Amino acid sequence: MAMTTSQTDTPASAVTLPSHHLLGIEGMDVLTMHRLLDRASYFADNLTNDVEQTLKGQTIVNLFFENSTRTRVSFEVAAKKLGASVLNISVAGSSVKKGETLVDTATTLNAMHPDILVVRHHASGAPQLLAQHIDAAIINAGDGRHEHPTQALLDALTIKRRFGKIEGLRIAICGDITNSRVARSNLYLLGGLGAEVRFVSPSTLLPPAIGDMGVAVYHDMAEGIKDCDIVMMLRLQTERMEGRETPSQHEYFNLFGLDSDKLEAAAPKAMIMHPGPMNRGVEIDSEIADDHERSLIHKQVEMGVAIRMACLEALAVTAAQKRSA
Ligand code: NCD
Repeated sequence: MAMTTSQTDTPASAVTLPSHHLLGIEGMDVLTMHRLLDRASYFADNLTNDVEQTLKGQTIVNLFFENSTRTRVSFEVAAKKLGASVLNISVAGSSVKKGETLVDTATTLNAMHPDILVVRHHASGAPQLLAQHIDAAIINAGDGRHEHPTQALLDALTIKRRFGKIEGLRIAICGDITNSRVARSNLYLLGGLGAEVRFVSPSTLLPPAIGDMGVAVYHDMAEGIKDCDIVMMLRLQTERMEGRETPSQHEYFNLFGLDSDKLEAAAPKAMIMHPGPMNRGVEIDSEIADDHERSLIHKQVEMGVAIRMACLEALAVTAAQKRSA
């Protein structure tokens, strides 16, 4: 029987992972999900306090092949709070070809013996490829359209701390699903934890294999977010588009942008989420995004640090156990 959020009695101790990498949510067992959330919740309660320096002496490399501010900084803050040394390497996405160049970069880094490599790359599967070539533990910080596990975990933590549970909640993930690694990871995670997840999107922004994903799909915002407890908006990820997927941004906003009128269809106390960065006036109206009563967007950023502390620590603990086995 799947364990539910309300049933978990796991103490907030460091988590050991079944694998020594964290490449995605797909295939993660429910107990590990709960344990990571419980540990992160402990860190969230102690974000301004000193915590045990479980990463002291460890070197963490943030290897980012795509632009990022919040995710990279979040990993850096999390690592430093646990006492690690952090090195940031940003490689301009357009000048780097996947394949050999990626593996060469990683092999060079490997010779410097980092403990954990945090990788963001525009190609789906890049972190998996690296995991085959280097000794360090790898965290996927977003690969192409594939997965973004720590974003999903921070979303789940934000929801759990706000609603006291995840199981049974109705969650609409709206907008550019096809280009979103956030949507995919959240479907695995929030669905795995017992939420009813829906995708709300124009058919041009849905992946071809949507029928195999086991998720309810809506093409109309009012229908899709009806009675939902959470409305999660996604950015139109134009950098991954070919050009004909959406009408004008104005028209897109009229049909799929979240404003106070459309939000009326959701549950009366529905909360708004967005992974950032936001395109204000395209997928979300500023009035909604900045509404402190309804928006969890800043909370998500805060919870990101706590989740990344739990994940980095889990990888360090898992590696130490492997070494002593
Ligand atoms: C997301 C990403 O990079 O996939 N953002 C993030 O990690 N903060 C979503 C996005 O870029 O729209």
